[in-house]
Amino acid sequence: MTQHLAITDRPADAPVEAERRADWWRDAVIYQVYPRSFADSDGDGMGDLPGIRSRLPYLRDLGVDAVWLSPFYASPQADAGYDVADYRTVDPVFGTLADASRLIADAHDLGLRIIVDLVPNHSSDQHEWFQRALREGPGSALRERYHFRPGKGEDGGLPPNDWESVFGGPAWTRTTNPDSTPGDWYLHLFAPEQPDFNWDHPAVREEFRSILRFWLDRGVDGFRIDVAHGLVKAPGLPDLGSHEQLKLLGTGATPCFDQDGVHEIYRDWRTILDEYPGERIGVAEAWTPTARRTANYVRPDELHQAFNFQYLASSWQAQALRAVIDESLEAMRPVGAPTTWVLSNHDVTRHATRFANPPGLGTQIRTPGDRELGLRRARAASLLMLALPGSAYVYQGEELGLPDVTDLPDEVRQDPSYFRAAGQDGFRDGCRVPIPWSGTEAPYGFGPDAGGPSWLPQPTEWAQLSVQAQTGDPASTLELYRAALAFRRQHPALGGADNLRWLESPEGTLSFERTAQDGAFLRCTVNLTAPAVTIPTPGELVLASQALTHEGSESILPADTTAWWTTR
Ligand code: GLC
Ligand code: MG
Repeated sequence: MTQHLAITDRPADAPVEAERRADWWRDAVIYQVYPRSFADSDGDGMGDLPGIRSRLPYLRDLGVDAVWLSPFYASPQADAGYDVADYRTVDPVFGTLADASRLIADAHDLGLRIIVDLVPNHSSDQHEWFQRALREGPGSALRERYHFRPGKGEDGGLPPNDWESVFGGPAWTRTTNPDSTPGDWYLHLFAPEQPDFNWDHPAVREEFRSILRFWLDRGVDGFRIDVAHGLVKAPGLPDLGSHEQLKLLGTGATPCFDQDGVHEIYRDWRTILDEYPGERIGVAEAWTPTARRTANYVRPDELHQAFNFQYLASSWQAQALRAVIDESLEAMRPVGAPTTWVLSNHDVTRHATRFANPPGLGTQIRTPGDRELGLRRARAASLLMLALPGSAYVYQGEELGLPDVTDLPDEVRQDPSYFRAAGQDGFRDGCRVPIPWSGTEAPYGFGPDAGGPSWLPQPTEWAQLSVQAQTGDPASTLELYRAALAFRRQHPALGGADNLRWLESPEGTLSFERTAQDGAFLRCTVNLTAPAVTIPTPGELVLASQALTHEGSESILPADTTAWWTTR
């Protein structure tokens, strides 16, 4: 099964030291593993840590620098592990703490770094603190570590304020007192099983310092910080006075998110990260209204990276993309941080499906759209992203060109947001379907046994999209990623340097050049329109997302195609 994934041993003189260089994160390509859906070693249908460990050589050969793992901690899985009951243990479904240590050690041996997910905005409702807070009833000191409040109205039957949960419905749930009378309410910006911590409480701050150290001591190279913009709420938890709250997410100011007070926490964490050798990093998941607000999270004494969600949300249109690229680069310049490009993750419709649909549908799309068009654009978009200055994230399966699975039967869905929104929203399961590795029968090498289970069903067409099926096929998306990542690694004009220069180009196209200090350049041209475009051949063709044709000194760039060129 693994024959196709031939593992070339790193030569003895490989520059492991060079890879340990300072500022490694400024141009790193970081691969997101969603543990449930990556590789299942024990055949229970759920991916696990030993499964991930067995596939690390694949990631090394793909050419990524680091791996971010979504949560694998003890959790009742009300939100696929983003509801953590114990931050210092591994959920048995994923393995053990020893498995985590072995995974970190193996990754380091292969020259890969490991970033783990940290979920500080909320715990699981099964967390010991929250359970005690409920059990001990009103007056319990543990209640101060969360946001408990009396309800409004005569009998306290109305929520304390008008905030809505990101997953739909009110952001408050009423408790029942130990004597069975109706009690106070608690705040949860997400599911009711995810009570928000009160970050004004010193015990909460101290606990997370200790959790950071716990994982740093185990050798992790950084943390992806979940809901990094949510920890601090506006004092007094004021009403928002609008019922359009969900529309404000990441687009407008709200009292629940992106409060200035949150930055003190990241300054504190930075001092902890800096105590450890080897540049351990923090990457913020911060949905803010503007690139400028996002830049606040990556000031020199705060975190290192923040996902560029404005870029993720951009449509496949030349003007829109150019504007968002310029705004992002400009916003990061004053703080000296790299931009952190991302096209897909476990919360949004995969970009192969977003671009298959008309623009303006958002990031929870239910229709497959024009698949061929989507894949074409996805390949072009990825090649564009990898040519931009800064760091880039790759979500598992995008290197296979996987589409979202838009026709999952309702009964297999697990996204809590799907249920809270009465099936109107929350289609995140579609991007979480397990990866096809090999073979012709489901689960396509995801688990050890042909015909074995997978927690979400895979479409039969995925046999043709498996790692095995694509390996060695120069036209495949996997080989395109491998070639792009290998080239990006060695070309001096690529990477973190702020050296992008736009060039004039026909309408509906983008063209820019990046030049290294030694004069070596890379030109990236993108045709975002349906008709092919003829351009003067700008140099030697390195890579293209679709085959180009040449006529004399001109090259024809087909529809929705990106090409990279070097020195004439
Ligand atoms: C983040 C995670 C998402 C999760 C939510 C609540 O947005 O990426 O998957 O549901 O936080 O923890
Ligand atoms: Mg398993």
